[in-house]
Amino acid sequence: MIEDRAAGHVTDVTEARRLFPATDAAAYFNTAAVGLASRAVAAAYHRYVDEWTERGLDWVRGEAAAENARIAAASLLGADASDIALIASVSAAAGLVAGQLGPGRGGQNVVIGEREYSSNHFPWRLLAGKGYEVRQVPFRDGGLDPDEVARHVDDGTQLVAFSAVQTATGHRSDIPAISAVARDVGALVFVDGSQIVGASSVAEDIHLVDVLATADHKFLMNAGRGLGYCYLSPNVQDRFVPTNAGWKAGAVPVESFFGPTMELSTTASRFDNSISWMAAVGNEASLSVFETFGPAAIYHRNRSWPACSGSRWPRSAGHRPTSPRPTRAPSCPYRWATPNRPHSSRN
Ligand SMILES: Cc1ncc(COP(=O)(O)O)c(C=O)c1O
Repeated sequence: MIEDRAAGHVTDVTEARRLFPATDAAAYFNTAAVGLASRAVAAAYHRYVDEWTERGLDWVRGEAAAENARIAAASLLGADASDIALIASVSAAAGLVAGQLGPGRGGQNVVIGEREYSSNHFPWRLLAGKGYEVRQVPFRDGGLDPDEVARHVDDGTQLVAFSAVQTATGHRSDIPAISAVARDVGALVFVDGSQIVGASSVAEDIHLVDVLATADHKFLMNAGRGLGYCYLSPNVQDRFVPTNAGWKAGAVPVESFFGPTMELSTTASRFDNSISWMAAVGNEASLSVFETFGPAAIYHRNRSWPACSGSRWPRSAGHRPTSPRPTRAPSCPYRWATPNRPHSSRN
């Protein structure tokens, strides 16, 4: 078993490698595909499986872990935990939003990126079957250019969907500019945050989006998967129907198993999916890394890396946030290695 104490008391982010055993042997730059397991994640999984094996599965513990994870994710998003739904996947969150749109009437359309990751693409493409024109904006420099988005948006636009950072290119979207174009015509703003949440801050822009969904297996570092997070603005919570409602959507989930009444949660948890308890335990542990260092220290460290790694992200194409950059990038002391690639870097 990988013990927590093997890392000692690491509090300086420049020592973060000590929390991730895989980095003993090599530098790892494939978090955009899948994040590494921290010692905390490994220990939490081992403990949970051991207890499950010896005494039976403690699902109440899994539920409690999910609530802690919801609070930790909300804090990273700069949102209130009551505005976060627990989701199975980004595509499930997009499907929930797509399901809110009724039959498309003449001229109604949705605007999406031409080469978006499919979880933020197929749910919108399927709206063509409901009568919407699906307008695909060609990428420029690897992502969405706000002026190009504006050329595709008109009074019939119901939704604009895009990734905060593109998986394939590292292009960073200008959330304020694209949101302004969408909101000008009253369209919903859907952001896929999978490639930004945990790596860089979205807190300053969260009020500019209606829905932001993120998976857990990248910069939130639980590649075991099974739990994601979906910010829903208070405004859309009032408008949306929780079409996936089950016991987790109840005001008191554990008292909502068999009806006969239906009392749904008054918070965004009425949009919750039933989640993997294993994943919840893993996420609670993986998110503890952000408490260890503080998100600001992690984001600052990330901004200093591209000079070393040759990576295109986050100093790549697209929007440049105004937050200060480190004046000097660190030299690169690590040897290069090709990590195991169960997924390609385009995953
Ligand atoms: C931008 C982006 N969105 C979403 C996902 C995952 O989507 P889902 O949770 O639907 O599997 C990925 C990668 O796995 C991704 O790179």
